[in-house]
Amino acid sequence: MTTHLISLWDFNKDELHSYISRALVLKKEAQQGIRGHQLADKTLGMIFEKPSTRTRVSFEAAMYAMGGQVIYLSGKDTQLSRNEPLKDMARVMSRYVDALVVRTFGQDIVDELAAYATVPVINALTALFHPCQILSDIMTIMEVKKKPLEDLKIAWVGDGNNMANTWIQAACRFGFELTLACPAGYEPDAAILATAQQEAGKPITVVRDPKEAIENADVVNCDVWASMGQEDEQDERLGGIFQPYQVNRALLAAGPAELIVLHCLPAHRGEEITDEVLEGSQCVAWEQAENKMHIHKAILEKHILEG
Ligand code: CP
Ligand code: NVA
Repeated sequence: MTTHLISLWDFNKDELHSYISRALVLKKEAQQGIRGHQLADKTLGMIFEKPSTRTRVSFEAAMYAMGGQVIYLSGKDTQLSRNEPLKDMARVMSRYVDALVVRTFGQDIVDELAAYATVPVINALTALFHPCQILSDIMTIMEVKKKPLEDLKIAWVGDGNNMANTWIQAACRFGFELTLACPAGYEPDAAILATAQQEAGKPITVVRDPKEAIENADVVNCDVWASMGQEDEQDERLGGIFQPYQVNRALLAAGPAELIVLHCLPAHRGEEITDEVLEGSQCVAWEQAENKMHIHKAILEKHILEG
């Protein structure tokens, strides 16, 4: 059976932990100079309809480091740009490659590709979710905090976007407490929140006040105020409503000294985060960025070798 990675809902806690434990082993091996060949003769297809630095390069580097090869297609390079049906694309690509990594707009697009593909489809960001990113973020938190996730309080400050939605799913599955501070009208997806609140062992709460979110928190996450695909809303979003949600020195003063700051990047300094905080000692964004490659290795290995 082909197993896709398109939403964290499709996996239980142990399955999600297994990506992270394998990534930690692969990271150690890479640090020791051990190179794998487990994906020799395997080919990854990457279809990206939105820009990417980290996700693209870390998936490509991961594939090459395990002996595989990559075919990268930007959205405009394929017949999708001339309305070829997704179901046709999925079935054709499945005959050429061993897995597909897709970055696109609607979650319905990856869902449809996965429904018709006979090779694993990996979600590399949609407007709704960014599952691979959250796995590397949680890996980073585990490395830095060295505590069970169930004992941690995690905060989200800013837009209730694809990252926020995925943090909600992660809180539900991994069992940590999550408080999201979002401006009115920019809350996370209501259905995802309701499902998670119903199933979660620990509170998942949306508040208005960012200080309330980071009080007693171990981790605070932030992200851009206007995501890819929201270019038309950029002026309105940057016009002031998000200003109180900037992660800056004054906000961090409301949290514990051990609070760490995560940012999935790209960062817009002076908007959602100050240069001082991004470059400061509490910020682990660069470790996060590195861990994307180790998590992507674990994901590719599992999905390509196990189907
Ligand atoms: N964090 C992340 O997904 O970055 P890219 O958009 O550069 O891939
Ligand atoms: N929320 C951001 C994440 C970028 C990695 C976006 O979708 O643009």
